[in-house]
Amino acid sequence: MIEPVNQISLLKPDDWHLHLRDGKILKGVVSHTADVFSRAIIMPNLDPPVTTLNQAKEYKKRIVQSIPSGSSFSPLMTAYLTDNMSPDELERGFIEGIFQAAKLYPVNVTTNSSYGVTDLSKIDNIFETMERINMPLLIHGEVNDLNVDVFDREAVFIERHLKPLLRRFPSLKVVLEHITTIDAIDFVENNKCDIAATITPHHLHINRNAMFLGGLRSDFYCLPTAKREIHRIALRRAATSGKACFFLGTDSAPHTRKFKESSCGCAGIFNAPFALESYLTVFEEEQALDNFEAFASINGARFYGLPQNRESITLVKRDVSVPEMFDVGLEGDPNNFVKPFHSGETLKWSVLRD
Ligand code: NCD
Ligand code: ZN
Repeated sequence: MIEPVNQISLLKPDDWHLHLRDGKILKGVVSHTADVFSRAIIMPNLDPPVTTLNQAKEYKKRIVQSIPSGSSFSPLMTAYLTDNMSPDELERGFIEGIFQAAKLYPVNVTTNSSYGVTDLSKIDNIFETMERINMPLLIHGEVNDLNVDVFDREAVFIERHLKPLLRRFPSLKVVLEHITTIDAIDFVENNKCDIAATITPHHLHINRNAMFLGGLRSDFYCLPTAKREIHRIALRRAATSGKACFFLGTDSAPHTRKFKESSCGCAGIFNAPFALESYLTVFEEEQALDNFEAFASINGARFYGLPQNRESITLVKRDVSVPEMFDVGLEGDPNNFVKPFHSGETLKWSVLRD
């Protein structure tokens, strides 16, 4: 009989897709990530978005000032691509190490994407530069075509935009972010090693029914939306496979109650506080604990060409209760609280803290 595993140690993980926001809430959310992750790719979808080198430097400063003292967490900044982004500025930012990557939001596909790209072919000069300097292009892979069913928008994006893009720029280094479908898994697996994908904890735990369980539940609404159960099962297999093209990206996206509990609730799930415990639960259920370190701590760094972290982290098999809500420092008004993923649940793994 195989002995049950009660403890797991791994190199400190990185989060390759994170929304930290700005202003007062920043401090309230960044501590959760800085607590267990070494680095994170910071998404630039502020309003207005991070489009210039100066904005990225200033935003990075504000993030660093908000990190609890003693933490060695380091934010990796990204540029938000618009129709008017200057290729020279992007290249300079990448060479100087300010921009780690650039994020492509097709216009109006998600939260704060109204400044996004209206037509991919309009920014071929940007893609040309990125391909030449080997700068990662991070893609929100959904079409903004309202005639396409919301659950098909990722698959259609791959056919309509991503494949043609890679035919024009075959050596472009691409991360297809927060994938949700078998179509995306197949696409990434069948490509060469310059295409990778991040997978969130929530897409491993929930399918689209979660949004409609006994009523309309905006807490499970994010973009891309969770899909059918067959996709969730395939995502669990992909994430836990140990394959180098899949790595951890939480897409933790905090929105306060006020904006979630509304007739037009915002897309985004705040999973930062228990992200590792959440992922590890899935790896254990899939009997793939041995592949957790590759997914959480190795594959992403390798893809980005960054060194592996040296420190390590330990999780133990011990119940942990996830709070119903987090006060993220916005004047203590419950309307300003943020509900975490797994709110009110008990998870079976905990991070060991000294
Ligand atoms: C993200 C956000 O709120 O910034 N929302 C989400 O549902 N994932 C944006 C994004 O990554 O699409
Ligand atoms: Zn995101």
